[in-house]
Amino acid sequence: MARWLFLAALLIHPAAFAVDAVRARSNYMVNCQGCHLPDGSGYPGKVPDIRHSMGRFLAADGGREFLVRVPGAAISVLDDERLAELLNWMLAEFCATDVPSDFVAYGTTEVGLLRLRPLIDVQGARSAVAAQVGVPAIY
Ligand code: HEC
Repeated sequence: MARWLFLAALLIHPAAFAVDAVRARSNYMVNCQGCHLPDGSGYPGKVPDIRHSMGRFLAADGGREFLVRVPGAAISVLDDERLAELLNWMLAEFCATDVPSDFVAYGTTEVGLLRLRPLIDVQGARSAVAAQVGVPAIY
């Protein structure tokens, strides 16, 4: 239920960003779920359970940026529009209840600029964000 409300909110938000859920899901299936798994649960010790990290990271300093600059997202083959759409869809699909109420959907330009600087010290960046919101380390 929460996820449909969130998707609806994305669609009517002033900074409207249309999420094509079918396209986003299929981009997730092709590009991400090999590691993140269909339900986002990942592999303990290797790939994080995004159901419990993504939404919470949005409340941390640098968390919004982290979700785009993390290599799996930043260096994906998806163009900026599709990556923005996919991240918005993942937030709605996997962790809608953790998304802050004042969240503004990712936009194409924002994502395009952030992914120009993919993270180098991924572990350090993730630890810094995760510690702020009580998300466990994965490494
Ligand atoms: C080869 C495996 C792999 C693939 C494919 C992959 N990821 Fe990831 N993803 C990871 C790992 C591992 C992490 C933890 C951070 C790191 O070490 O990169 C992660 C972290 C993330 C995070 C931050 C969540 C957190 O808890 O750290 C996001 C957002 C994310 N990935 C999005 C994506 C998207 C979007 C795609 C597809 C376009 C994708 N990933 C494809 C392995 C992968």
